[in-house]
Amino acid sequence: MNAKLLFRAVTFLLTLVTFAQTDLPQDYLSSDFHKERRELLRKSMPANSVAVFFANPTRNRANDVDYIYHQDPNFMYLTGYKEPNSVLLIFSEDQVDGGSFFNELVYVQKRNPMAEMWYGRRLGVERVGSELGFANAFNGEDFKNIPVDFSTFDKVLFKDFQNDVRDNKRDKSDLYDLIEQFKTKVSYESLPTKIPAGEEIVEMKTNIDVKGLRTLMASLREIKTKEELVLLKKACEISAVGQIEIMKAMHSGMSETEIQGVHEFVYKKYNVEYEGYPSIVGAGNNGCMLHYIDNTKMSAGKEMVLMDLGAEYHGYTADVTRTIPANGKFNKEQKVIYDLVYKAQEAGIKETVVGSDFRKIDKAGRDIINEGLFKLGIIDSIKQKHLYFPHGTSHHIGLDVHDLSNRGPLKENMIITVEPGIYIPEGSPCDEKWWGIAVRIEDCILVTKDGPVNFSGMAPRTSDDIEEMMKEESILNAFKLPKLD
Ligand code: GLY
Ligand code: MN
Ligand code: MN
Repeated sequence: MNAKLLFRAVTFLLTLVTFAQTDLPQDYLSSDFHKERRELLRKSMPANSVAVFFANPTRNRANDVDYIYHQDPNFMYLTGYKEPNSVLLIFSEDQVDGGSFFNELVYVQKRNPMAEMWYGRRLGVERVGSELGFANAFNGEDFKNIPVDFSTFDKVLFKDFQNDVRDNKRDKSDLYDLIEQFKTKVSYESLPTKIPAGEEIVEMKTNIDVKGLRTLMASLREIKTKEELVLLKKACEISAVGQIEIMKAMHSGMSETEIQGVHEFVYKKYNVEYEGYPSIVGAGNNGCMLHYIDNTKMSAGKEMVLMDLGAEYHGYTADVTRTIPANGKFNKEQKVIYDLVYKAQEAGIKETVVGSDFRKIDKAGRDIINEGLFKLGIIDSIKQKHLYFPHGTSHHIGLDVHDLSNRGPLKENMIITVEPGIYIPEGSPCDEKWWGIAVRIEDCILVTKDGPVNFSGMAPRTSDDIEEMMKEESILNAFKLPKLD
């Protein structure tokens, strides 16, 4: 290529990537939200400390294809930055460098027309400044010269590394390099826990703290702000609409994969970016595997189908489960077990109030389930240890489906799941008529001073309401595809 052509090509590429993308969703969290979160974290940090956060690594799927990138939730919470290869530092007090003061630094991906032509726009330091509100944003390549001496802090707080970050040899400031540079700066390899077994451990003082940050972040993240609740409500309602649509569309000939597709189609109709976790769709005995994600059974038949799916909207994920009979009508055994789980869930939701805790919510539902299983002759005594309800009843939701929390008493604006279940796998030590029955009902409940508010309650929960909803027609059933060989 001659010089003129090369010039034209580069100019074209720059035009392509220089303009900000327009017509984007307008309801992302604001930069003020992220800034306020950083301020609150700073206030909660120990004196003379620095907190260091790294973006999530990219993950390889196969050959030259990576998995869709997902930002680390803490990084997202504090910055709103959605790209990889970046590091954020928050200081408890102002630092000074050549007469200028700063209390946070962020190092991000450098703009690169060629990379952006292939993989999409990068925000770059200017827009990280103007749009995300960082006064001190730099390119990742500058991190090696960071004007900070980590040995002067009483504490350097960060999450320990998983050793699962690949080095892109062509990029000298990718996440791998940022972490390696950081490790050198904080003498990470001399930590007693990092010294290979058999080598002498010399007692040494370190300012590295890889535990404390979790508690600080959990204290912030477990209580949702108004802005976060708008997104979470939307994620929960969209997930509930997915459940409603499949109740209308479901028929015995449907495969687990197709059922999953109906939910996820609804999510995309609402411009949801991702599922918050791999979708769980288990017909009959498959529902007994708590996190069954194969979803490969070809036809649901007369079984109940356990569907645990959550839309992730602008980072915030719902977690909603409904269990419905594929043919639209619960049989006798299915209905008995379903109604028992419903009763347990109602009891748990009633306990989801300010000052309560996970133990109380769990006990409220578990007592009902144990008593019910005993009366049905599925267990021999109320006190019998069994595996028919093998999981806890609640967890927080938020940027993670199992969101950070310090697991203390419930406070206003916490949002948790209430999700009791009964699972009776084939071969269980009870009458065969119960085998293959699996029911979970899961909703996302906001704790308010006026009592529990069910964000996903739009989707029917009682066995009668489910059967009524299943009588309705779905437009999706008119969607006929040509038969392929
Ligand atoms: N969907 C995972 C869970 O319910 O915790
Ligand atoms: Mn859950
Ligand atoms: Mn779930």
